[in-house]
Amino acid sequence: MDKIQIDGGRRLVGEVTISGAKNAALPLIASSILVNGKSTFTNVPNLMDIVSIQMLLEDLGASCAFDNNTLTVDGGGINKIEAEYELVRKMRASILVLGPLVARFGHAKVSMPGGCAIGARPVNMHLSGLEALGAQITIDHGYIEAKADRLVGNEIYFDIPTVTGTENLMMAAVLAKGSSVLRNAAREPEVVCLANALIEMGAKISGAGTAIITIEGVESLHPARIDVIPDRIEAGTFMVAAAATRGDVLIKGCVPDQIGGIINKLRATGTILEVGENQIRVQGNDIIKSIDIKTQPYPGFPTDMQAQFMAMMTVAKGNSMIHEAIFENRFMHANELLRMGADITISKGNYAMVRGIKRLQAAPVMASDLRASASLVIAGLIAEGTTVISRVYHMDRGYDGIEKKFSSLGADIQRI
Ligand code: EPU
Repeated sequence: MDKIQIDGGRRLVGEVTISGAKNAALPLIASSILVNGKSTFTNVPNLMDIVSIQMLLEDLGASCAFDNNTLTVDGGGINKIEAEYELVRKMRASILVLGPLVARFGHAKVSMPGGCAIGARPVNMHLSGLEALGAQITIDHGYIEAKADRLVGNEIYFDIPTVTGTENLMMAAVLAKGSSVLRNAAREPEVVCLANALIEMGAKISGAGTAIITIEGVESLHPARIDVIPDRIEAGTFMVAAAATRGDVLIKGCVPDQIGGIINKLRATGTILEVGENQIRVQGNDIIKSIDIKTQPYPGFPTDMQAQFMAMMTVAKGNSMIHEAIFENRFMHANELLRMGADITISKGNYAMVRGIKRLQAAPVMASDLRASASLVIAGLIAEGTTVISRVYHMDRGYDGIEKKFSSLGADIQRI
């Protein structure tokens, strides 16, 4: 199994270009189920999660082709409505096929996503939303089954904003009879990207990017060509890595407006940021000031950046309180950072007190999830000595060519 080896202590210097967003590409690809024809997606990142959803769609009967970051999906051949356990268990986001399948075919059977390293992650709001649209839901032998002759528009209220839940129900409601209103909807840029794509395909949606999304159902959608937005979490990861190594990096091809939470927190650490239209120059400061963080739904500080900031805070001046308020078990990286000499105390399960030390020491560490792996890479870049990170398949799920990108910035990093 692949490992990543990092010889720490080098400043990152140079330019890096951000890839398309995994979490935008996944729902977009699922949306091609709604279309009887060939959808085209450009700027698709080359990742394991993209391979997983492609395999899932092919198993349903769609024809897919991936070339040079362009993915075409012909949903015309879909002749199966069952997303099987073997495919779904590889990636929780497979639940995104549920809404489109029931919307187009009136019937869907999707393996219930199982446990997850970062929290329980139930899908109850996806299911109650579909019920509100008139689907009959049953759970049998580990499968969710949804049936409806045709979905009917309705009001859906989310107890808490859910990203894939909002996306699933938006995809379900676009082909429903009548209008739907999603209240307390997720406002993430990936939700807006999906809404814009569905509008390109002929859907009638307004309000995406706010907490209230209104959808007027249409009879059918047509194929379109959709560009995936840049990955704000990949951009944030390189920004933190640049700052933590006291480097000087130009992050190109990002959308600064979508990463306000990250920019704000990095500035508070004393990092110098020059924000342009599609790029950000990050210049690290010798002294990293400690900051407190609380994760929140967009536009708040993203949970997907918590682990990377924690790595940086291990060498900050002072104490940092990190409150993970989205997922209940997203501190697995803290235990690995402790192995590198970090001073971190976890309390009440989702608060971490990080007391800054002078320098981390390299150690063999293990990635537990995607963002934890990014945290350990940043820790390895600033540590003294050679860090070896195992279970990097987590990283390959969500970062396109990460070690090549870090190498080009001067990091001593290689896959072994
Ligand atoms: N929740 C429920 N019931 C539901 C759905 C969600 O209780 O039916 C809870 C979750 O357990 C969590 C909160 O609501 O406590 C928010 O979860 P959300 O549904 O928004 O998460 P998600 O849609 O499963 C997406 C991203 C995650 C990201 C979160 C939060 C995709 C494919 N995944 O997950 O990305 O952390 O939103 O922003 O978009 C990652 O990329 O590493 C990743 C985990």
